[in-house]
Amino acid sequence: MKLIKNILLVVALLLSLISSAQVRSIVDFNNGWKFFLGNDSLASNANYNDSKWRSLNLPHDWSIESNFSSSFPATNQGGALPGGTGWYRKTFTVPLSFKNRITRIEFDGVYKNSEVWINGHYLGKRPYGYINFSYDLTPHLNYGKPNVIAVKVDNSLQPDSRWYSGSGIYRDLKLVSTNNIALAEAGVFITTPVINKNKATVSVKYNVSNTGNQKEIVKLYTDVYDATGKKVATSKHIVLRSIPVGGYSYADELQINTPLLWSTAKPYLYKAVTRIERNGQLIDEVKTTFGIRSFHFDAANGFFLNNQPLKIQGVCMHHDLGALGAAYNHAAAKRQLKILKEMGVNAIRFSHNPPAAALLDLCDEMGFLVQVEAFDMWKKKKNKFDYNLYFDEWHERDVQAMVLRDRNHPSVFMWSIGNEIREQFDSTGTTIAKRLVDLIKAIDTTRPVTCALTENFPEKNFIWKSGALDVLGFNYKLYDYAELPNRFPGQSFVATETASALSSRGSYDMPSDSNRLWPPDGKTPTVKGNADMSVSAYDHVYAYWGSSHEAALLAVNKYKFMSGMFVWSGFDFIGEPVPYAWPARSSYYGIVDLAGFPKDVYYLYQSEWTTKPVLYLFPHWNHNNGDTVDVWSYYNNADEVELFLNGKSLGSKSKPNDVLHVKWRVPYQPGVIKAISKKNGKAILTKEIRTSGTPAKIQLVADRTKIKANGTDLSFITVKLLDKDGNPVPDADQLIEFSVTGPGFLAGTDNGFPADSTSLKNHKRKTWKGMALAIIQSQQKKGNITVTAKSAGLGMSVISLKSE
Ligand code: GAL
Repeated sequence: MKLIKNILLVVALLLSLISSAQVRSIVDFNNGWKFFLGNDSLASNANYNDSKWRSLNLPHDWSIESNFSSSFPATNQGGALPGGTGWYRKTFTVPLSFKNRITRIEFDGVYKNSEVWINGHYLGKRPYGYINFSYDLTPHLNYGKPNVIAVKVDNSLQPDSRWYSGSGIYRDLKLVSTNNIALAEAGVFITTPVINKNKATVSVKYNVSNTGNQKEIVKLYTDVYDATGKKVATSKHIVLRSIPVGGYSYADELQINTPLLWSTAKPYLYKAVTRIERNGQLIDEVKTTFGIRSFHFDAANGFFLNNQPLKIQGVCMHHDLGALGAAYNHAAAKRQLKILKEMGVNAIRFSHNPPAAALLDLCDEMGFLVQVEAFDMWKKKKNKFDYNLYFDEWHERDVQAMVLRDRNHPSVFMWSIGNEIREQFDSTGTTIAKRLVDLIKAIDTTRPVTCALTENFPEKNFIWKSGALDVLGFNYKLYDYAELPNRFPGQSFVATETASALSSRGSYDMPSDSNRLWPPDGKTPTVKGNADMSVSAYDHVYAYWGSSHEAALLAVNKYKFMSGMFVWSGFDFIGEPVPYAWPARSSYYGIVDLAGFPKDVYYLYQSEWTTKPVLYLFPHWNHNNGDTVDVWSYYNNADEVELFLNGKSLGSKSKPNDVLHVKWRVPYQPGVIKAISKKNGKAILTKEIRTSGTPAKIQLVADRTKIKANGTDLSFITVKLLDKDGNPVPDADQLIEFSVTGPGFLAGTDNGFPADSTSLKNHKRKTWKGMALAIIQSQQKKGNITVTAKSAGLGMSVISLKSE
């Protein structure tokens, strides 16, 4: 069965290669790999026997498959998961007709220290785990016969990161084949230098390569299509061009009449198709998605998109996808972005490294501004085995690869050369900052360069002293915002990090108005905190270098010169479990928990950052008789909120100046707590929460009941404990056991609690505050998938999905 499947895969690959042999072929190279966890130096040999190795598809992260343990050298800061060494091998065939073509393998990211061999021939290594790279396979391929590609991944030196990195070929892989005359890798660069109501000028820079041994005469041009597929522009001068041996660069111009602009509210996209013809025959074609938008930072007034002021409502995001680990998955990334979009987020800082390329496609489509960041450290380390070991030798190639890969994305609006770089405190920071900015600007001058800084005294900040930064990014220190324009006259600012506030979903410590600094200072890395390792979710717990979410929002809103903010962090991520130590293994910083369930503060942002009517009430209404409970509400589009307990009014409240919530202190009685938001005395929204009984059944709700039978699509199933009347139970937990039948499998389980030490791949998961998540992945086979959840005393619940 397996053999037939592999033969079919090879045939499919061959067919797709042949059918597009005339022009460029881009083949998804993710499927049909063999994997071995461990080291075997002979595995690079072409004739090595890998038949006993595990079969898998990429992207793959082996670290996430392990149990959590305090004994791994990455420690809980790195997610309490292992690094190690792993090998991947794939056997594939290329047709004879490819002899005169150029064939390249493109890796979007391998964590880390990858080395690659084709048919036993060494192609090279790439230390940085967050960068794309490629190899030319042409001279080493066996045409019409099997080839073997072998990849060694060495993530054994630990600790190497301040957060969870994952290990393996964790991003997409492609095989690209072109004629000997073709657009080079990243050989099309599109910008829109002139934009007005009537027209946009589109500049296209081409980099054509000629790997043959004679010059060739070709036609090279670009057509632009709008979102409906209608051709709206073509190159001004379509003439024959002579391409010398080696290559050729050329700049072209097109004009689009009455352009539709890309914005975060309406992310309109155009497609440019660049073609090369030889003797009337098409020999290469490259499609580039782009957008038409302008933006600028104004030192006094902040950020402007398409000449309209726009506060940057951003979040910082690490790359892991919760229970899926670092392995990139489009459906999971899309779900994260959807959740953020609904909260009102319009910008993302991918911290502290370049993200997956496919994630930027999603940001283009969904309307997010993106800050792409190169590094978390330069030559001075933050961890024993981090990128400082490779910086000298590799920073140039890594920065260039980042800019070349990402420069066409309309979403990408800033480059960041680093995060809280140690060199900001000494003179080496000046030289390195200049160098990195020069490297970026040599390729792209259309985007400002920033750096996320902590040192905000100009005389002490050596990165700022370089004079190379277009925009200054500052992390935290709200209390200094007022001073920034005096300290750095004429500069533009963005809050590259705010908050570092902490919470676990559904946890509440009274009273809600006593703030906790966890940790309280630099000498106390972890705190005793709560015995169950929860952190209260009233916005009143934060690290000493941070603030509450509310304080950060108020500070950024107060100053027009602050272009906006990137909250630390959008989602919880694996690693950095401040304020706790093991068994805590993932962060408490997120506005959304690791499972993708919003915490209460999500609705604070939603009420501030969106115009849709919001009325949110918390906490739950299951407390002990005699308790005094602080009831909070976030709202907008209303003048006041009236609260009722069991039908009796507890009074109306409006948000006081400089406060973004209303609060009542309520002597608890079981029953119904209800809020009504009102405008001019008229009810706008109503929200009520009931005291629930004990769990009686399991509710399963899928985010999508129809998924694609492509082997990667996902359905996220939210699991809730309900009482006998159907009320959610917020204060009891049960162990749930999942099983899946049909053409799908359980890709992971979670409950969002950062100190749950059960593997994220376990099919049994205890709920946290009455909730859990099961992630179901499709196979490459259509049919009905049945997901069953069982728990002692609750019977079982079933949900059906269609994979088509
Ligand atoms: C910042 C840092 C982030 C994260 C955060 C946690 O200083 O840039 O990567 O560690 O603190 O509060």
